[in-house]
Amino acid sequence: MKLIIRQENKADYKNVYELNTLAFEEKEEAVLVDLLRKNEEFIPQLSLVALLNDEIVGHILFTKIKIIDVNENEHESLSLAPMAVLPKYQKKGIGGKLINKGLSTAAKLKFKSVIVLGHENYYPKFGFEPTTKWKITAPFDVPTNAFMGLELVKDSLNNVSGIVKYPEEFDAV
Ligand SMILES: CC(C)(COP(=O)(O)OP(=O)(O)OC[C@H]1O[C@@H](n2cnc3c(N)ncnc32)[C@H](O)[C@@H]1OP(=O)(O)O)[C@@H](O)C(=O)NCCC(=O)NCCS
Repeated sequence: MKLIIRQENKADYKNVYELNTLAFEEKEEAVLVDLLRKNEEFIPQLSLVALLNDEIVGHILFTKIKIIDVNENEHESLSLAPMAVLPKYQKKGIGGKLINKGLSTAAKLKFKSVIVLGHENYYPKFGFEPTTKWKITAPFDVPTNAFMGLELVKDSLNNVSGIVKYPEEFDAV
């Protein structure tokens, strides 16, 4: 099976909506993706789809976020969310390939770091570490090790501390 990962285009939106609905078994994340595409923090090159025989089987989205410190200084970063793989194609490495392609594309676009809220045993495979390392916190309650960061540029989070501010579209999820 040949997997192709490419930038999402408008013709994919409907299939990506269905994919997110199937993978999450609810519509919230599918609606979130539709809303985020209209946000100025949306980066088209970082909305990626995975295709198998022309069928969209996976999607990943990275959106601009800010980390704001106690002095209101803003540090730009990226959020990885959401990502989804069609249930029947899960656990075959497609999610991992989407993450790696997303991270390499983000690095090429000169982003310096990525934040993710997710499973503490999954994302460390790609280099993510709990954000407690940098004193970066989520704007909501999260299990400590589930909130993770990754430096695309070495030491780029070294002097960064503060609370992550997501685009307001995330509030509904
Ligand atoms: C998370 C998801 C995108 C991973 O895609 P995938 O193609 O199955 O990922 P991979 O094949 O690269 O990796 C699968 C591995 O990650 C583990 N994993 C991933 N997410 C996990 C989670 N939330 N809980 C437990 N394990 C998880 C799997 O158990 C599996 O481990 P194994 O390889 O040791 O068996 C997919 O499971 C999915 O769409 N889930 C529903 C939507 C979701 O929860 N999205 C993530 C939050 S935004």
